[in-house]
Amino acid sequence: MAEMFPKSSCACGVTTSTSGPMTKADHLIVRTLRPHDEEAFLELRAAIVNDGTAFAKDYQPGIAWPDYLLVQDNARAGVGLAAGAVPYTFLVADLGGVLVGSSDIRHRLTEKLTRWGGHIGYIVDPRHRQRGYGTEILRQTLCLAVGLGIRPALTCRADNAGSRGVIHACGGVVSAQTHDGICSY
Ligand SMILES: CC(C)(COP(=O)(O)OP(=O)(O)OC[C@H]1O[C@@H](n2cnc3c(N)ncnc32)[C@H](O)[C@@H]1OP(=O)(O)O)[C@@H](O)C(=O)NCCC(=O)NCCS
Repeated sequence: MAEMFPKSSCACGVTTSTSGPMTKADHLIVRTLRPHDEEAFLELRAAIVNDGTAFAKDYQPGIAWPDYLLVQDNARAGVGLAAGAVPYTFLVADLGGVLVGSSDIRHRLTEKLTRWGGHIGYIVDPRHRQRGYGTEILRQTLCLAVGLGIRPALTCRADNAGSRGVIHACGGVVSAQTHDGICSY
């Protein structure tokens, strides 16, 4: 899999509704973790966890960074997964060396993921929201998922305005909504 996917080389045809001059989001690169990322990853994790949201649940505090990169390699290959887990790719959004968010590609759906979760999850550091980063993260993640042979299915709570905005900006169309407010795209 390509390690990074700058906008200019996106070949999967996912475009956003955003047009006009270049923005900071246009400089964002969604990629896998690298050997020098530990400090930036821990800062992103702290910001998200302190905001009350779980993040990178496969990260055990104190694990040596090379070992965590190995966990990631194995997750992509489907090796040593927790019960019920499917192979996944964890990605970070790099804006000039600052990690402003992340995404996950789940390589296939289970019954549970079909109902809630879908192929892709994403999050933006609370300090960096509403600047177009979520939209750019999803756009590049969709391209990477397509590159893995996935036809991405997404879910979103109807009351999650930010996530709905991101999916709509990437051209998502609601295909179903459950009685408890989960939209499928
Ligand atoms: C959802 C989330 C990723 C959005 O990230 P973001 O960087 O703020 O999103 P963007 O700046 O790209 O915004 C995309 C659109 O949604 C709108 N939007 C974003 N947050 C919003 C909010 N809280 N309320 C209303 N609209 C919002 C933006 O105005 C924008 O609309 P536009 O395209 O018409 O301009 C972010 O709020 C987040 O990390 N939430 C917690 C995790 C989560 O819910 N993940 C999704 C479920 S897997």
